[in-house]
Amino acid sequence: MQEGFAIRQAEIEIFGHRGASGHFPENTLIAFQETRIAGANGIELDVQMSKDRQLIVMHDETIDRTTNGSGYIKDMTYEILKALDAGSWFHSSFSNEKIITLDEVLEWATGEGNHLTINIELKNDQIFYDGLEEAVLNLVQQYHLEDRVIISSFNPKSLQKVRSLHKTIDIGYLIEGKPPDTVEIAKQIGANAIHCQEVFALSEKGQTARAEGLLLRVYTVNDTNAIERLKHAEVSVIMTDYPAEFVKSSAKKKDNRKTQGV
Ligand code: G3P
Ligand code: MG
Repeated sequence: MQEGFAIRQAEIEIFGHRGASGHFPENTLIAFQETRIAGANGIELDVQMSKDRQLIVMHDETIDRTTNGSGYIKDMTYEILKALDAGSWFHSSFSNEKIITLDEVLEWATGEGNHLTINIELKNDQIFYDGLEEAVLNLVQQYHLEDRVIISSFNPKSLQKVRSLHKTIDIGYLIEGKPPDTVEIAKQIGANAIHCQEVFALSEKGQTARAEGLLLRVYTVNDTNAIERLKHAEVSVIMTDYPAEFVKSSAKKKDNRKTQGV
């Protein structure tokens, strides 16, 4: 690596993974609001589909871990889901937090002064939600957020469908570890980015992806010491459960560089 390489890179962006989920209940409005307050660049959230085809912001296919209810989202109506407590599992002080829909998040995201990037992860790798891609794209277009949204998924077929429905929307192919043929698959399905873990970004495969023009966005990084090495690997985005800490740490590093005249 050339000396001084990192300082010529654009600043690395910080996204709150499931919002500021280290300090607030994941995938809730407060977790997203706090990511914005922290001064981060974006949020990452997960989308499932209810029985009545509402787009539900939740990581798991079931509501058991993060609410006071039990069962599969696909078997429940939004009417039932919205009555649940989605915060107490994290801490009793969050008992007012509700399950939210993607519609509610996008409405909030279009509020005055809100410029966050919204990374919508389609959770269709465990359960096949028929029409999930169309429903998400329709909503994004309804809010005119095509230029501020990233669609990602572990399911390449789903992303290929998104690309066939929208020629320019930002698509991130999600991988775990260092699977073979990642770059080839990403290019084949029309993705412009790979959403990966550090192990991929820092490897030769990660550098091949960069050389092929693919962006690297890395999840889930919770140690601020990783910022410098990820910058050197030309990573564009760090997704973290602790956006406030990462924003602070990035700003401090920038100040240090200024003081040293670089
Ligand atoms: O989108 C990045 C990351 O969220 C993927 O893993 O399981 O946290 O949704 P997971
Ligand atoms: Mg996710």
